Parts: sequence; C-alpha cells; structure tokens
Amino acid sequence: MRVTFCTDLDKNVVVANCEKRGWIQVGPEDDWNIYWAGTLTCRSLFSVDSGYRMNDNQIINHFPNHYEISRKDLLVKNIKRYRRDLEKEGNVLAERGDSKYLHLDFIPVTFVLPADYNMFVEEYRKAPQSTWIMKPCGRSQGSGIFLINKLSKLKRWSREANKNPLQPQLAKESYVISRYIDNPLLIGGKKFDLRLYVLVTSFRPLKAYQFRLGFCRFCTVKYDSSVAELDNMYVHLTNVSVQKHGEEYNALHGGKLSVQNLRLHLESTRGKEVTERLFDQISWLIIHSLKAVQPVIATDRHCFECYGYDIIIDNKLKPWLIEVNASPSLTSTTANDRILKHKLLDNIFNIVVPPSGYPDVRWNKIVSTEALGDFELLIDEDILNHGNHDDTASLDRHSNRSANFYRWK
Ligand SMILES: Nc1ncnc2c1ncn2[C@@H]1O[C@H](COP(=O)(O)OP(=O)(O)O)[C@@H](O)[C@H]1O
Ligand SMILES: [Mg+2]
Repeated sequence: MRVTFCTDLDKNVVVANCEKRGWIQVGPEDDWNIYWAGTLTCRSLFSVDSGYRMNDNQIINHFPNHYEISRKDLLVKNIKRYRRDLEKEGNVLAERGDSKYLHLDFIPVTFVLPADYNMFVEEYRKAPQSTWIMKPCGRSQGSGIFLINKLSKLKRWSREANKNPLQPQLAKESYVISRYIDNPLLIGGKKFDLRLYVLVTSFRPLKAYQFRLGFCRFCTVKYDSSVAELDNMYVHLTNVSVQKHGEEYNALHGGKLSVQNLRLHLESTRGKEVTERLFDQISWLIIHSLKAVQPVIATDRHCFECYGYDIIIDNKLKPWLIEVNASPSLTSTTANDRILKHKLLDNIFNIVVPPSGYPDVRWNKIVSTEALGDFELLIDEDILNHGNHDDTASLDRHSNRSANFYRWK
C-alpha cells in the first residue's frame, strides 16, 4: 500500500528516513499518512478554525497541547499538582521527610516570576548565599538565561526590564527561577547534562519508550562556582547552541559523550550498583514527569511525540529533571550525531507504524520486541492493567504509580 508523508522541517534526517522506507512525499493539502511537523503547524492543524479532520490512517508527531510538559512554568506547575494530588490520596509515593518529598523530589525548587515572587523571597531567605537560575518560560537554547546570587540583582534586573523601551516584551515575559544545582557531577572538571529521548505514543493509557542512545553535552570551560564566573555561560550552560561559540569548542566530538560511555565511566569510578541505581532513578523520574501531565494532555489517537529530556546529575549521583523539549534538535553537529539521529527517527517510525506498514490509529499500539530497536519500554499501562504481572495484578487500577514505584524503587 502506498504510504505518503509530509514535513515542514528542512531536515534531511526526516526526508531521508521516510524515503528509505519507500514513502512518497506530498504537500500538506494532499492526502498524507504521516506528518512530521513543527509544533506550531501541528497546533494550527488541530485548532478549531482549521476545520481539518484526520482520518484513521493519519498520524502526526506532536500532541496539540504538548506545552503542558515543554513549557518550563507549566511543567513545574503540573509536577507540583501531581505531588499534591498523590499526597491527598495518601499515596506512599508522596511521602515526605524533612519537609521534602522523599521520592518525588526530582526537579530543582522552582517559582514562576512575577506571579510567585513573594514565595520565592521566602525560600531565598532560608539560604541567602545560594545561587538561582532565571529562565524565560517560552525560550530555548540557553537564550535569556542568567544566574543570580543576590536578591538585589533580581530587583535591578526587574527594574531595568520594566523601563527598557526597546524591549517591552522583556517586562511581560514570564520567567521561572530555579535553585541552581551548584554541585553537578564533573568529568574532566567540566559540567555536563544528559540529553535523553523519550517517545510517547499515548498518554491515556500511558505508553512510553526510552531511547538507549542519549548523550552528555559538556561545557567547554572548567566548572567554577565562584561569584566571579557567575556570568560566564561557558561554565554553566550546557546547551550546544551556547558552547559552540566558545573558543575551546571542539567540532570533532562537539562536546558530546554517549550515554553508554558515561555508564562505563561511572561503573569504573563509582561502581556498578550505584550506576545502575542512577539510571533506574532517571527512568523513574521520566515516568513520573509523564504521569504528572497525563491528566492535562489531550490524548489524541493520531499523535505521538518524541521528547528531548535535559537531566543534570549532581555529584551525589542524584539526577535532576531540568526541562523537557517537544522538538529536540535534529541537527547533527558531528558524525556520531548524524548516526544517532538517523537511528532515532528510524526507530520512532518502527514503533509508531503498525506491523502492516500502514498507519492506523485503531491499532492497539503494542510493540513487538524486534520493532523496539534501541528503544526500551518505560511504561505501558495497557500491559500493566491487563497483563498478568503477579506483582502488579494486586494493585488497583488507580495506583499504577505504585506499580511503577515498586518496579523502580
Ligand atoms: N537548575 C539548574 N541548575 C543547574 N543548571 C541548570 C539549571 N537549569 C538549567 N541549567 C543549565 O542551563 C541549561 C539551559 O537550561 P534549560 O532549562 O534547558 O533551558 P533552554 O530551554 O534554554 O535549553 C541546561 O542545559 C543546564 O545546563
Ligand atoms: Mg534545554
């Protein structure tokens, strides 16, 4: 059967992957089966005004309100609500100790500004020497980010943003302010974060897969938490879009190290068991970040989405969720990158297209082991709910979270 695809992204990796499968490229007005679209295109397609109705043989690479997870402020709001809800229902997951959540403390303490300014000040005063990071909610690639260690600096910034006639949007833009993870795990003295890929094919029930081949993104300048270096983004921000402008940027490896090599490094320096635990904790936090947005993301059978997770590991080997991108970069900066991104797309298509090779939203989306490729099943609530796993069967339908909890603890 003839399969057609459409894309509005100027990315060779998308077209090459589709053409390799014998799919035929068509325009957005034509009869397409698979649309690899930018988030805006997807949103406008789903908007009431567009009047577009997809048929059963059409799939698209975004959920219409992905911003519930990909906007920095909404992600935090949803995670906070998720924890509160679990706490109200008395779920063990929401247990606290020392006022902190014991199991769900996986995002740095964060406030939305200007709305939560007073709450921020209260928290700030508990440890006035600590560093915070300000990030505009709607931007990416390290743009507009800065670090502060004094309330006065924040006040000065706010005054200046308000009176800058050239940039009136600065004053209106909302920001998140997060506790800065000032003890990142360093390799060769440099800070890095992880970019991991997670594919979601359904939110209700939740079906998610984690790609084995993520990578670390390194800073080009050695880590230094002193005040003198607070404004040096080559020390603090791991974005490739920032680091590639640095003098020390190496175009050959692009400041990237594969997750497999990170694992080997950690196994040899810290031991196998703690490394295993770290990676389990990462999968655990990914699952709970998805559970946190599960009630608010409009799950549509036509949609799937591949998220780019940014995760920082601190020097106690605790992983922290920094943000979730709904359009992770498909640009390749190195040869390895190109291979990885080709594989990623190939593997995504293997999962979202049923075994018949023809997109069909009536398919139950249960993926065979062969089709998984380099993806690993993170969670499939269909299997959890209906499968005969002894350890999960006794748990009631509502507490899948507990099922995962026991699995991931
Ligand atoms: N709370 C934090 N503690 C330490 N580093 C952080 C924190 N938040 C962000 N960063 C650093 O800043 C980078 C950019 O932040 P991120 O939230 O991913 O925004 P962007 O959308 O600009 O990529 C991250 O990749 C990380 O290196
Ligand atoms: Mg980021």
